[in-house]
Amino acid sequence: MTILAIESSCDDTAVAIVRNGTVLSSVVSSQPIHNSYGGIVPELASREHVKAISPLTTVALADAGCTMQNVDAIAVTTGPGLAGSLVVGLNFAKGLALAHSVPLIPVHHIEAHIYSAFLEHQDVPFPSVGLVVSGGHTAIIAVEDMATYRMLGSTRDDAAGEAFDKVAKMLGLGYPGGPHIDRLAANGNPHAIEFPRGMRVSNTLDMSFSGLKTAVRTYLQSGLKHSIEDVCASVQTAIVDVLIDRTMRAVEEIGALSVTISGGVSANSELRRRLTEECQRRSIRIAIPSLQYSIDNAAMIGFLAGVRCAVEQEKPSDWRTVTVNPNPIR
Ligand code: KG4
Ligand code: ZN
Repeated sequence: MTILAIESSCDDTAVAIVRNGTVLSSVVSSQPIHNSYGGIVPELASREHVKAISPLTTVALADAGCTMQNVDAIAVTTGPGLAGSLVVGLNFAKGLALAHSVPLIPVHHIEAHIYSAFLEHQDVPFPSVGLVVSGGHTAIIAVEDMATYRMLGSTRDDAAGEAFDKVAKMLGLGYPGGPHIDRLAANGNPHAIEFPRGMRVSNTLDMSFSGLKTAVRTYLQSGLKHSIEDVCASVQTAIVDVLIDRTMRAVEEIGALSVTISGGVSANSELRRRLTEECQRRSIRIAIPSLQYSIDNAAMIGFLAGVRCAVEQEKPSDWRTVTVNPNPIR
């Protein structure tokens, strides 16, 4: 089954061709227009998607050596995400489905992130703990198999990536802030400043990052007493401490045999290093998708759509019945 997949939930337009679980092509057009605003401007994001989506589809088909005649179904992200951005991808997908008489498969963005690690690591043992950590989402999920999962915990306020981005903005670094903080933190002391670890004593697996943001603002208002590298290293460690604590508690809670991470923050070098160490210490498997599949991409959308059809015998939908889905998780 050859699936043309479309992703436009946030600020990346992405198209991929996936055939029976194998990625034939995957292209992404990001939107540097937001950089000078220190965050995503939703209206600009929608307009950029409108410009990019058709030419990107042409490139994805050409890279895969396909035409629309080879496409059996179209998979599209229906949510969660920015409403205006989602509508661009969804309506484009509906137009293609109608024009070429192919069915549409609606895909949940977070579900696709959860399973993106399985795209390149198909032998990951279950049960598994999935950490989805991006600019818009931070969630810990128990993954029983390719079709069954349940949410164990999530952020009560900001996503971890948002905390990286907001702190970077306060420090006058560029957007997205995570890579800047990661780079500067490499030369800083992670214990220079004791920033708060939200919900430290909670016995749930939920997280909170908004207090950290306030603590950094208060610290900066009182005058910079440490180097910017020390501030970055201390902030990064505060965020990573929380993510590691909840992930490893989840591992113990469900007796997980593996951990997967996905979303843009999974590129963070301290998170990768410490999570790998923790998993090695417990002799469990860790699977981290390559960067192209951990940030927003359409290959994960096409991959999950294929799994749903193959494993769950889910029938693709008539394009008329598919709408934007704002639910945080299925
Ligand atoms: O998954 P993604 O590309 O888009 C969505 O948010 O859905 O994730 C983007 C997020 C941004 O918040 C960015 O700052 C963060 O991922 N990020 C990082 C790193 N690279 C990207 N955060 C920490 N360290 C990094 N190296
Ligand atoms: Zn995402």
